[in-house]
Amino acid sequence: MAHRWKNDLSERDVTPEGAWLTRRGLMAGAGGLALAGLAGRAGAAEGLEPNTWEEITTYNNFYEFGTDKADPAQHAGAMTVSPWSVRIDGLVDRPADYALEDILSRMTIEERIYRFRCVEAWSRVVPWNGFELADLLQMAGVQNDARYVAFETHLNRDEMPGVRFPVLDWPYVEGLRLDEAMHPLTIMATGLYGRDLPNQNGAPLRLVVPWKYGFKSIKSVVRITLTAEEPPTSWNKANPREYGFYSNVNPEVDHPRWSQATERRIGAGIFARREPTLMFNGYADEVGDLYAGMDLTRFF
Ligand code: MTE
Repeated sequence: MAHRWKNDLSERDVTPEGAWLTRRGLMAGAGGLALAGLAGRAGAAEGLEPNTWEEITTYNNFYEFGTDKADPAQHAGAMTVSPWSVRIDGLVDRPADYALEDILSRMTIEERIYRFRCVEAWSRVVPWNGFELADLLQMAGVQNDARYVAFETHLNRDEMPGVRFPVLDWPYVEGLRLDEAMHPLTIMATGLYGRDLPNQNGAPLRLVVPWKYGFKSIKSVVRITLTAEEPPTSWNKANPREYGFYSNVNPEVDHPRWSQATERRIGAGIFARREPTLMFNGYADEVGDLYAGMDLTRFF
């Protein structure tokens, strides 16, 4: 992955908008980085101003490092992220432990500015770098009987202070239906603002599914398994009444304990009005067809 200009920018001494334009200019000249997806697929986030580096990297959910929003930035630095490999197995033609360098050398890294909506009703706009999950799955060769994709997060009890507490059944696991996983909006993120992904955001490789609640976007992925049956998912196992398998952003289906109709935009200031939450987080045109005919209240 070309990150030769990684250190050229200080995120703090430029306005977000100015920084973004500068980065775009740099991106165009950076070998190995493609802008192909940017114009066509920025979707509803196009025109939105990304949150700052600090807003994205100091307020996080990564329960392996603690449940406070500040814990991941404080503790995730201890996580060893190199060397890293991803086991791709199950219903694939070429099951293997794929070294991260090998994966990256075969993938096209793009920038994607996506809205990100947490189930806790906060949101932000994130300029990710990453590649389409579909390309990775095709590299491994998806077999005909595969219907779902299961994901697993790295687990190291010495480096993750949060896993001493049984908040969730570790390791963190997630899943998608195969058509959701193959959708061009679904990416594996490797960076943020053109820099390597910070550990607290799920280094070195995390899923990003922009039309689903943030907990589907599993961090620090070490295993991807193609399956015939719907795989178990961490939050659903912990509380099936509150968290379903689909977890599509939907302002009309409330969480049992709070409304999902509006959201608090991180960085908007304490006097800012809450913003209306959009169906499929603003990506209804792109992904609505995936759920045609489905009762989204039942399959929440
Ligand atoms: N992945 C793992 N392994 N552990 C977690 O606790 N939290 C999820 C998701 N992925 C989580 C995870 C939740 S609830 C959210 S909102 C997002 O990560 C937060 O991603 P961010 O910190 O990059 O914004």
